[in-house]
Amino acid sequence: SKKAFIFDLDGVIVDTAKYHFLAWQKLAQELGIEFTPEHNEELKGVSRVRSLDIILALGNIEASQEDKNKWLIQKNEDYLSYLVDMDESEILPGVLHVLEFIKEKKQLIALGSASKNARPILEKTGILHFFDAIVDGNDVSNAKPDPEVFLRAAQLLNVSNENAIVFEDSVAGIQAANIANMISVGIGDATILHEAKYNFKDFTFMDLAFIEAFID
Ligand code: G6P
Ligand code: MG
Repeated sequence: SKKAFIFDLDGVIVDTAKYHFLAWQKLAQELGIEFTPEHNEELKGVSRVRSLDIILALGNIEASQEDKNKWLIQKNEDYLSYLVDMDESEILPGVLHVLEFIKEKKQLIALGSASKNARPILEKTGILHFFDAIVDGNDVSNAKPDPEVFLRAAQLLNVSNENAIVFEDSVAGIQAANIANMISVGIGDATILHEAKYNFKDFTFMDLAFIEAFID
């Protein structure tokens, strides 16, 4: 049967994790909160709303809903300003190669992202056509490590969970894939992503034979 290869977006397909970090850091600074790259690891894969709550908790700040909404808009505007000139050059090394190979082998490709900005990013980078299904932050109500986003993607593709392979750069995303009984592949630091079934520093370290081995 066909396999579903489910890709997270930020930090897996495109290097937007650095832009999310910059935008959150700017806000944290304005609020007088110390926000380090280590703190940022906890925000990877986490929704915008929940990310703000985590940052505010770091600074012991209790805020009104009105202020929170204002900051959420501000963060997203800053984030989007980094994406204005985005094009295919922002696709992370090795990713296109893998997407093309999966297509060539007539397997299925899905996006499983917490981001509400996913579609425009896929369009800007010119890879929207690779995806047989897209599930993003506009479609789900439970954030990773809840497996909802990946379960939906597999469902849309009519593929059972055991036949789904998930590529993730976040701890929360790896946990979500594991909870869903999918095959978790960590992309990034193996120490941080130690719960992943497999791990690659990035896609250039992944041999196409690794992908082929899942296909029957
Ligand atoms: C991804 C990123 C997070 C981001 C979240 C929401 O999971 O890893 O850093 O906060 O998506 O993204 P959005 O584009 O909707 O703010
Ligand atoms: Mg990610």
